[in-house]
Amino acid sequence: MKKLLPILGLVLCAMSAHAEKISLNTPHNSFVVDLDKGAEPQFLYYGASISSADIANLQKIKDDNWSRSDLYPAYGATHTMNEICLAMRHADGNLSTNLVIDDYKVTPHTETAPNGATRSGQLLTITLKDPLYPTTVHLYYLAYNDVDMLESWTDITNGEKKTVTLTQFYNPVMPVRRNNVHCTHFHGSWASEAQLVEQPLKTGLLEIKNKDGLRNATSDRNEVMLSLDGPARENTGDVIGAALCYSGNFRITIDSDESDYHQYFAGINPDNSEYHLKKGETFTTPRSAYTYSVSGTNGVSQTFHSWARKYMLRHADKERMILLNSWEGVYFDINHEGMDQMMHDIASMGGELFVMDDGWFGDKYRRLTDNAALGDWVVDTKKLPEGIERLLADARKNGVKFGIWIEPEMANTTSELYEKHPDWIIKAPGREPVQGRGGTQVVLDLCNPQVQDYVFSIVDNLLTKYPEIAYIKWDANAPVMNHGSQYLPMADQSHLYIEYHKGLINVCERVRAKYPDVVIQDCASGGGRANYGLLPYFDEFWVSDNTDALQRIFMQWGTSYFFPAIAMASHISAVPNHAVYRTTSIKFRCDVAMSGRLGMEIQPKNMTDEEKAFCRQAITDYKKIRPVIQFGDLYRLHSPYAGDFLASEMYVSEDKEQAVFFWWKLETYKNQHLPRIKMAGLDPDKYYTIHELNRIDNEPLQCEGKSYSGAYLMQTGLE
Ligand code: GLA
Repeated sequence: MKKLLPILGLVLCAMSAHAEKISLNTPHNSFVVDLDKGAEPQFLYYGASISSADIANLQKIKDDNWSRSDLYPAYGATHTMNEICLAMRHADGNLSTNLVIDDYKVTPHTETAPNGATRSGQLLTITLKDPLYPTTVHLYYLAYNDVDMLESWTDITNGEKKTVTLTQFYNPVMPVRRNNVHCTHFHGSWASEAQLVEQPLKTGLLEIKNKDGLRNATSDRNEVMLSLDGPARENTGDVIGAALCYSGNFRITIDSDESDYHQYFAGINPDNSEYHLKKGETFTTPRSAYTYSVSGTNGVSQTFHSWARKYMLRHADKERMILLNSWEGVYFDINHEGMDQMMHDIASMGGELFVMDDGWFGDKYRRLTDNAALGDWVVDTKKLPEGIERLLADARKNGVKFGIWIEPEMANTTSELYEKHPDWIIKAPGREPVQGRGGTQVVLDLCNPQVQDYVFSIVDNLLTKYPEIAYIKWDANAPVMNHGSQYLPMADQSHLYIEYHKGLINVCERVRAKYPDVVIQDCASGGGRANYGLLPYFDEFWVSDNTDALQRIFMQWGTSYFFPAIAMASHISAVPNHAVYRTTSIKFRCDVAMSGRLGMEIQPKNMTDEEKAFCRQAITDYKKIRPVIQFGDLYRLHSPYAGDFLASEMYVSEDKEQAVFFWWKLETYKNQHLPRIKMAGLDPDKYYTIHELNRIDNEPLQCEGKSYSGAYLMQTGLE
């Protein structure tokens, strides 16, 4: 070894005349690559922090054709048979690209995170060039100083004289050493989002993808966990968590080929999306975010939650308001008296915000059901003759804040907007538009800057005219139903999916620049947009249109793998439930909704006095535990997927002074023997006094009011 230079979190060790090991360190993780000018960059290590002495002696991955340690295989010159990150057609038609290191550097880096916070870390930039073509690719790795998060992304710059075509554009690959590796991912559909799937990685490809066009979290999600040593466990074992921070079509490919490694690739889905990059233009990929946990899947979740609260969510240091949303209570039946009554009722139960959902707008075409008026964001004066002014006055009178629903990226063909701008919608050139919800819903083409201005103006007009509006629910209830932009030139039709999301982010950035304080919910037919591409512009998301408490336990469990409770809107609704027709007790519904950002989605006037009293008490109690749930650390204790009719989790405050323990019985049988649950995350030496919330039994629990050490609660648990 010639030299050893510790510089902040970075260690450089010259191993040969040229090759250099570069390590990036977060508080508990190290990522090491082997870089040699003129050669392809090589992966060496990602895992728990290692010492500079061990880094110096790290073994190289076997370097034959099957080693697959290349960080950024590009198609055609040295990589033809394996999966690749980049494929492109050069200006002269050549399909082969050969990218080798031209230069690299590590620099201290500070930037504004998408949620407006400042983040800092060490940034490794590797510049790759093709000896035959003036193509430049930068690989970036950002290791955070304060959280165990490593981000990687790329940009590709066309230095050729004419346009080149990108046909595949993943982020750098993350190789995962073969062992008994299990992949946990999330599959779903409308009203059944985030169902947890775990499977061993066998030989072959595992492909997880979304091609909805707009709502990339409805079906398969772009976050996965890889348990490296057998089936995933919550609090033990090595697990990598990976999220692609993108709101559009994505593809994750895990290739378990003939090498020693599983190759994790993630990026924009290239299907029907080849990208023409003009001379001098740069294409930047969305970031991949990784963490490495030695304390199981729960360790990954905790890191993602704290990263999200710091950098990927708006106002995550502020407690969320308890709200009533009008949707399941009245659907489209909006009027002043009804809204006033709902505001009064939620205020009387202790709520802080009322949100008027769909149905309040439309003039020539009225929003009486879901088949008209999207795009015409004017108050329906037949329903609300005294306008938003009266709604705000009623909110003031009732002592609650006021929020409003919009679906700004959409139109109905039965709308004045569509009559005026039929060219603003997404549709195949020369074809009749395929119409969605209500038989008339179409998607506006956010590739078009005029449409971006229009979408921005919807929010801008509302908030300029009514600055008292405290909350917006931003919905999106349609996919791309037929491919085509009436704005993009015919030669660039394949840019639709990518340009749409650039346009959407552009609008979100403008909204946040002008209205940093308003609370905005990210909704897309439920949880269709729970992703880290869009969330930085929002405060929370609607987990699902399915508010059945029992199925919510499963959906919220899956959602909690990557998203913190403060972001998960979770509402008490009526029974029989509107999605699954199941009847559950008001206690059960409160017990489940209180594990996320609590709200109500119900017609309070149809509730009994007992139910109202129960909810009033639950809301009072939630206010006490709100900081623990919204800012505390989550510990998942017993999975609903275990199949033994029980689920349990808890939140612990940062100072470990307070904790909230949830224990949900999923089925009731006579003489049912349920396991005793050991708690987690407590201070073993502290004594905790037990108090049951939402109690319905006449007799208190034996442990009520008694104090137990954290050690006892974690080793033994309570009956
Ligand atoms: C979507 C949302 C619901 C509700 C309706 C209104 O389905 O997910 O919460 O807002 O639209 O039409």
